[in-house]
Amino acid sequence: MKSESSVAATMTCCFVVFAAVSALAQSNRIPPGDVTRPAASIAFKADAAKLLEVGKARHGDTSLSPAGRSCNTCHLEADSYNATFKMPWPHFVESVKAKTGLDRITAEGMVQFCMISAMDTRPLAWDSETLSALTEFVLDRHRKVVTK
Ligand code: HEC
Repeated sequence: MKSESSVAATMTCCFVVFAAVSALAQSNRIPPGDVTRPAASIAFKADAAKLLEVGKARHGDTSLSPAGRSCNTCHLEADSYNATFKMPWPHFVESVKAKTGLDRITAEGMVQFCMISAMDTRPLAWDSETLSALTEFVLDRHRKVVTK
């Protein structure tokens, strides 16, 4: 027969495992609203060439991630994406489907998705220069890859 303390220890252990598994499941989920532009929001606008210049700088900016990563950490080259990158926007991206349930994502939504899932932080403000600049950088790379 089990002593009271070993029953308590078993229960505590089960609870810890359960809490860890549910925390992991939750941390793997991203609300679709975090990667979808809210209807009432307005994007930061500027000349495309200027946005591209800022975007190029921000793409290598490790201060955007508390984990010390930049977009360049994983996407230094334009061929660092999966084949889905070549499809017209918005399009299917495997990990977006897995974590948000969304069937398609915009280039801007993809910036937000990697901010959350890969840079380990909050999505950028929808009216921020950084979001518009990184989106222009991604769109520019996309145009080049598609027309290559
Ligand atoms: C830790 C690595 C990592 C970092 C840092 C990272 N990403 Fe990603 N990114 C990925 C992975 C992995 C995928 C592939 C997702 C898939 O295909 O399911 C991806 C895919 C993409 C795609 C292409 C999706 C497609 O197939 O169309 C874009 C665009 C993108 N990331 C932009 C960014 C931007 C912008 C940043 C910086 C804000 C960034 N990523 C930071 C790992 C990263």
